Amino acid sequence: MKKFEGNLVSKMPGVGTSIFAVMSQIANEHNAVNLSQGFPDFPVSEKLIDRIHHYMKEGLNQYAPMPGTPILRKQITKTVKELHGVEYDWDKEVNIVAGATEGIYAIISAIVKDEDEVIIFEPAYDSYSPCIELNGGIVKHAQLRLPDYHIDWEKVSRLITNRTKLIIINTPHNPTGSILNEGDMKRLGEIIKGTDILVLSDEVYEHIIFDGHQHQSACRFPELINRTFVVGSFGKTFHATGWKMGFVLAPENLMAEFRKVHQFVVFTVNTPIQYAIADYLKNKKNYIGLGKFYEKKRNYFLKGISKSRFKIVPSYGTYFQLLDYSEISDEKEMDITIRLIKEYGIASVPVSSFYHNEEESKRLRFCFAKEKETLDKAIEILCKI
Ligand SMILES: Cc1ncc(COP(=O)(O)O)c(C=O)c1O
Repeated sequence: MKKFEGNLVSKMPGVGTSIFAVMSQIANEHNAVNLSQGFPDFPVSEKLIDRIHHYMKEGLNQYAPMPGTPILRKQITKTVKELHGVEYDWDKEVNIVAGATEGIYAIISAIVKDEDEVIIFEPAYDSYSPCIELNGGIVKHAQLRLPDYHIDWEKVSRLITNRTKLIIINTPHNPTGSILNEGDMKRLGEIIKGTDILVLSDEVYEHIIFDGHQHQSACRFPELINRTFVVGSFGKTFHATGWKMGFVLAPENLMAEFRKVHQFVVFTVNTPIQYAIADYLKNKKNYIGLGKFYEKKRNYFLKGISKSRFKIVPSYGTYFQLLDYSEISDEKEMDITIRLIKEYGIASVPVSSFYHNEEESKRLRFCFAKEKETLDKAIEILCKI
C-alpha cells in the first residue's frame, strides 16, 4: 500500500517500539533464552481456566457493566479488606480494567491537563511518561538513589510546585525489585498533606514480595487513601499476562472522573474472565503463596549464578533481578545486552532504558518468572560470561 502523503504530525514523536518487544524480537531471531520481557513461561491454573470455560458455556459472553461485574468488584473489596483492613465501596470505588496499563492510561488522562506536572521515579516503568505527555502534562523525574534505589524524600519535596498534580509510585518496583516501606509511605503522606496532589500507586506486583516483607499498599495509609488511585493486575497474580485484566481502587469522586475516560477507552472488559477470577479469588491459597513461590525461583537463580562474574543487586519483590556487570565489561548497557544475545544466547533488558536520559549504571534486568529448565539454561550461560 502507498503511504499517506499528507502532513502527518506525530503526537508522540519520541516514542518507538517498546524495549521489551525489541529485545524479545532480537532474542527470537537468535534463539536466545529470553529473560527480557516480564512474563511467566509456566501455565495458568487449570482450575481457573475451567472456571472461564464454565462461564463461557453458561452464556456469560456479552458486555459486562462498565465498571466491571458486581461479583468481582465485591470480591476485590473483600480481599482488600482482609489484606489491608480497609473497606472500599464495591460499587463506587472499585473498577475492573483491561490490564493495569489501561488503568494507568485512563487515570492519567482523567486528571492530567496541559502544563500539569507529574512526578515519577526513575528508573520508571515505560508507560508513565508517554501517558503524561500525551495529555499535555510535564514529567518531573525524581531519581531512585543507588545502590539500593531508595527515595530521597527531601529531593522529592523540592520538586513539588503549585503545578504538581500527581505523584506516581510503584511498589514492588519494576525494574529494580525495590520496595517502599512504611516510613516511605508516611513521608509521602506528609509531603503532600494540605496540597491537592493526587497519587497513582502502581501495585501490580502486590503479592510478589520476599524475605518476610509486607506489601505496603497506599490504601493502608489514612494520609494517602483519600487521594490515591491504587492499580492492580490479575495478569501478574495469576500468571496470565496475556489476559490483560486488572483493577483500580479510588475514592468515589476520583473514580467518577476515572470512569469518564475508562468508558471511552474500552467501556468494559472480558466478562467470563471476570466471573472466573471472582470465584478464584475467594480462596486465599490461590494468591497468598505467590511471594514464596517466586522467592524460591529468585533464590534458585541467585544460587545458580553465585559463581558468575555478575554482582547481585538485592531484589525484594517483583519477578525481576538486576545484575551488575561492572566487573565484566565497560560497555554501555544497550551494547552489552545485544552482544549477550548474539554471542551467548541470553536476553535481558538494559536498566538505562528505564531512564529518560538513558542513564548508565552497568546493570541489566533479568526476569526469573521461568520454569526450572529455562533458569538452568540461563544460569549455565551467565556463569560462562
Ligand atoms: C510496574 C508495572 N505496571 C504496570 C504493568 C502493566 O500491567 P498489565 O499487564 O496488567 O497491563 C506492568 C507490566 O509489566 C508493570 O511492570
